[in-house]
Amino acid sequence: MTHPVPALQAHRLCAAYHQQPVLEDITLALPQGQWTAIVGPNGAGKSSLLNLVIGSLVPLRGELRILGGSPAAQRRAGNIAYMAQQENMEWDFPISVHDTVLTGRYGLMRHDPLWQRLLPRHWANPDHRQAVEAALDAVDMADYAARPIGELSGGQKKRVMLARALAQQARILLLDEPLAGVDPPSEKLILATLERERSAGRTIIMVTHDMPSARVHADNVLLINRTLVGLGTPDEMLNDTMLARLAVGTPDAMRGGARVAA
Ligand SMILES: Nc1ncnc2c1ncn2[C@@H]1O[C@H](COP(=O)(O)OP(=O)(O)OP(=O)(O)O)[C@@H](O)[C@H]1O
Ligand SMILES: [Mg+2]
Repeated sequence: MTHPVPALQAHRLCAAYHQQPVLEDITLALPQGQWTAIVGPNGAGKSSLLNLVIGSLVPLRGELRILGGSPAAQRRAGNIAYMAQQENMEWDFPISVHDTVLTGRYGLMRHDPLWQRLLPRHWANPDHRQAVEAALDAVDMADYAARPIGELSGGQKKRVMLARALAQQARILLLDEPLAGVDPPSEKLILATLERERSAGRTIIMVTHDMPSARVHADNVLLINRTLVGLGTPDEMLNDTMLARLAVGTPDAMRGGARVAA
């Protein structure tokens, strides 16, 4: 099924921290319902691009439309689920695995009638409970539901944070390095889960350094190193020529070209 409105559409997008540019002149479109892997070296601006998509970073110049609307509005509407890069998170909160995943549903709870929001958690809208349980099952962490999140290993935390994103049942899944630091069985599980999400029509935008997985699973690969180096199929992007270009960044003469994934 093709969707006329792109999941993400950027036009001459630039972003900066303290006037220091981190993304420059990015023009591209990603269709809905596809899996896009974002690949680039450390400091390339990959996480910054996701921050623009959730509206926590505002473009310095240019335009970014998500599902045809503004990033902040789409996030508020519950259309974007975001899993942050683990290194950027605090883990010493006294909160269980179950409740961590449930926090992913808080945006949706705003739509519950007031009386339901006042009920104890186990009596509240069963949709939330079912979504949390299904998400924990999907990443094989149901047995850990009552454990404090701070007591889990790195790979287990990653799976819980993916469950938190899945529980939101959003149209766009935005995942910052969901495969980093997980063992091979967990990686297989996460990739199978994402395959199912794509089959259900969701858009997956995943930052990764794991090129073999991107090659096998992604529909599109977006290469960025401050500027857009390329956007195309895994075969078109993950070859020696393009990866050499990615390592050095894009020469000034090549900047500003529009790329639209098929
Ligand atoms: N909050 C911030 N304030 C100032 N500079 C920042 C901030 N966040 C990121 N940067 C800078 O922006 C640039 C891009 O960072 P970003 O985190 O987007 O890179 P990345 O591609 O995700 O890298 P990695 O692969 O290491 O996660 C880096 O030079 C970084 O130092
Ligand atoms: Mg990053």
